[in-house]
Amino acid sequence: MEQKAYIIGEETVKKLLTVDDVIDICEKTWRWYGEGRVVMPNKITTDMSSQGVAGWFNSMPAYIAPLNAAGLKLVGGYDGNRAKGLPYIKANVILTDPETGVLRAVVSGDFINDARTGAQPAIMTRLLASSTETVCFIGTGLMAYYSLLCMSKTLPISRVKLCDISEEAMDRFIARFPDAPFTFVKCKSNEEGCRDADVIITVTNADADLVEEPWVKKGALVMTMGSFREVSFDVVRKADRIAVDQVGQSLHRGNLKELAEMGEITEDSFDLIVPEVLAGKYSVNRLPDERIYAQIIGTGMLDVACAAVVLEKLRERGEEALLADMLK
Ligand SMILES: NC(=O)c1ccc[n+]([C@@H]2O[C@H](COP(=O)([O-])OP(=O)(O)OC[C@H]3O[C@@H](n4cnc5c(N)ncnc54)[C@H](O)[C@@H]3O)[C@@H](O)[C@H]2O)c1
Repeated sequence: MEQKAYIIGEETVKKLLTVDDVIDICEKTWRWYGEGRVVMPNKITTDMSSQGVAGWFNSMPAYIAPLNAAGLKLVGGYDGNRAKGLPYIKANVILTDPETGVLRAVVSGDFINDARTGAQPAIMTRLLASSTETVCFIGTGLMAYYSLLCMSKTLPISRVKLCDISEEAMDRFIARFPDAPFTFVKCKSNEEGCRDADVIITVTNADADLVEEPWVKKGALVMTMGSFREVSFDVVRKADRIAVDQVGQSLHRGNLKELAEMGEITEDSFDLIVPEVLAGKYSVNRLPDERIYAQIIGTGMLDVACAAVVLEKLRERGEEALLADMLK
């Protein structure tokens, strides 16, 4: 008896997994989660700074029954990385045999992390927006790039308004879409960006009120993706409905954390849990004028599912990867 375990590097992942694959598998995984076919405890953080290591990492386990995939996403932020020419965030996914626990693969998780992060607003916007003609991004970094890339594959967009404290970041962002079928508008203020936007997405590393409630027009969808507060409390309070990708983590992280700590947001506050919508438990039935606020907190099941797809394709195509027999 033998069981081969693979070590799959970033280049191979990118060769095997397309952005379209990622959008597809993320939507399916959300649906399976809504159907109760995914086991996913909340993530835990290991902060190493008290021991003199300028870094932290999250452990994000999941078992996805329809893929028979068990695994763990390990993703962290490392302060020294930029000086070493590495991205601040580094991710890896470990897959084990669900029945025996024997290692199946260690999969580089950077592209998976970036692409699955971008797939989320694409899927959510399709379900929750009344129009996608004008989309405003506040924050134009890497996650914003993958978000627009995924959205542009699945949604009709005419105009993209950009807001960032860094002019250079906006220029870099625009340069990444040389054949864009939409126009870009660099905005001088967040208010200018938000005022007539159908969809507003905040994806920054700020902890601030980047969007004020009077700037959000009727019928708009506001989505926050950053790790801290990104919109004023009133954007949430005065929204007609609140949507999330997952309940547990939405109460402890991201934009909703403080409102949850003040007791203003509880698990009963969420009108739309997107995986449940995808599972057909209820439909969105959007009214044209209502304003929907959505928090995308990001969950490890998506990375584990993407890694499982990479492993399956690798086996099918006989791609090269480092191999070890785990039973010897
Ligand atoms: N929800 C998810 O699934 C998920 C997944 C991965 C990362 N994230 C989070 O997304 C955020 C962005 O990550 P990234 O990798 O794109 O970072 P990045 O550093 O590449 O980009 C962040 C951008 O935000 C801009 N910015 C910072 N403060 C701003 C402000 N006050 N106003 C306007 N723009 C501002 C920066 O100039 C930069 O261009 C982080 O908070 C990260 O933790 C979320």
